[in-house]
Amino acid sequence: MDSTNLKALELAKQGAAEGTIVIAARQTAGRGRMRRKWESPEGKGLWFSMILRPTIAAEYCAQITLLTAVAAVKALQVLTDKKFSIKWPNDIMLDGKKVCGILAEMALTADGSIEYAVVGIGININMSSEDFGAQLEATATSLYLATGIEYEHEQVLKAFLDEFDLLY
Ligand code: BTN
Repeated sequence: MDSTNLKALELAKQGAAEGTIVIAARQTAGRGRMRRKWESPEGKGLWFSMILRPTIAAEYCAQITLLTAVAAVKALQVLTDKKFSIKWPNDIMLDGKKVCGILAEMALTADGSIEYAVVGIGININMSSEDFGAQLEATATSLYLATGIEYEHEQVLKAFLDEFDLLY
C-alpha cells in the first residue's frame, strides 16, 4: 500500500477499534517525519501502524511516542542481545545508525482530548547495504547488518507488541 499511517488514519476516522494494526509488505509512499520519505522495500522490514484511542489529555500525547520508543528498544534488545539507544523522541539507534523510526499522528476532539492516534513504526530488519544505497547506509542500519541474522517479521512484531502492551 502507499503508507500504513495513511491507511490507519482513514480506518480510525471510520471508527476502527483501538488496537487495530495495519501492516504492509511494502509501502510505495512510506512517510517519515518532516515530510521525508521512508524507504520500505518488500520483505526488508516491518512497516506497520497501530490505532490507539488513549483516554488522556492532549498535553500528554508526546508520551505515546516516548513509550513506543521504549517498547521498541526493549523488544529489540531481548531479540538480538544488542544495545540500542533512543535518539529522543523518535529514532532508535544501533551502532550509531538509525534502525527504527516512529511517526505518531493524532486527531483531537473539539474539547481538546485525543480522538485517536496512529503510531507508525518502521523497523529495518533485513535491509542490506545495497538496499540502503551509499547515501542512506551512512546513517541507517538493520538488524541483519548488525547481527548477520535474518529475523522473521512476525517474531519482531510479537516482541514489540508484548512490550508495548505492558507499557501502554
Ligand atoms: C521517521 O523516523 O521519520 C519516522 C518513520 C516512520 C516510518 C513508519 S513505516 C510504517 C509507518 N507508515 C508510514 O508511512 N510511516 C511509518
